[in-house]
Amino acid sequence: MALRRAPSLPQPQPCDRVENGGDGLPGQVIHYPTDIQPILDAKCVSCHGAEKPAGGLRLTGETTLYYSTSYEELARKELAGPIIPEFTSFLHGDRGNYNGAYLPPRSLGSPKSTLLELLTVRDHPKNAQDDHSALLTEMEVMVLARWIDSNYQFYGTYFGRHHAQWVNADPNNPAYQPADFRRKATFAEAVDFLAPAWHR
Ligand code: HEC
Repeated sequence: MALRRAPSLPQPQPCDRVENGGDGLPGQVIHYPTDIQPILDAKCVSCHGAEKPAGGLRLTGETTLYYSTSYEELARKELAGPIIPEFTSFLHGDRGNYNGAYLPPRSLGSPKSTLLELLTVRDHPKNAQDDHSALLTEMEVMVLARWIDSNYQFYGTYFGRHHAQWVNADPNNPAYQPADFRRKATFAEAVDFLAPAWHR
């Protein structure tokens, strides 16, 4: 059946549709520090901060060796959903492309996300003390769902993955721009064959 029609073109996700305030483009570079962390800073860190974080979950965004505090907390506890092992080599050692087993539909992503369930289902047991189901706008939930359904990665592209040693200016290399540390690539840069000039 699928072979009898032309291939479908990728369509914008709900948060990228023009009628919802997006730019109407299907090609997006989803970048955790600029797409997800600002939502956590605005709506979550008042309770999930550095001091006695609620539920033992800290959602602050400072840079860590690999990613950031909130990202590693969510990933370690697999709270945004189950993670495909090839992306969690920082937790389990590099198992390469160990993604070959058959998975039934809805085994990954938002249908299995504790985070999304807590943020949308009022009678979730963990909402008894503090209700999370009305904290976010519909747009913020859509942005989180898009990130979760793309296997909640940190970098949207290979380019720009930087070790934490590059967070500050480099006295030995005055040409290095700290603004290039883990910066968000444009879609054109992300799909280009050659690395952008700021990648090192
Ligand atoms: C008013 C305080 C408060 C705010 C604001 C808040 N939370 Fe929570 N959160 C809690 C408490 C308290 C718990 C522990 C609930 C429990 O274990 O029953 C919790 C638990 C959680 C859990 C479950 C942790 C686990 O290990 O199962 C997640 C995920 C979570 N919060 C995410 C968020 C996100 C994302 C935001 C922002 C959109 C947020 N929270 C905002 C108080 C808050």
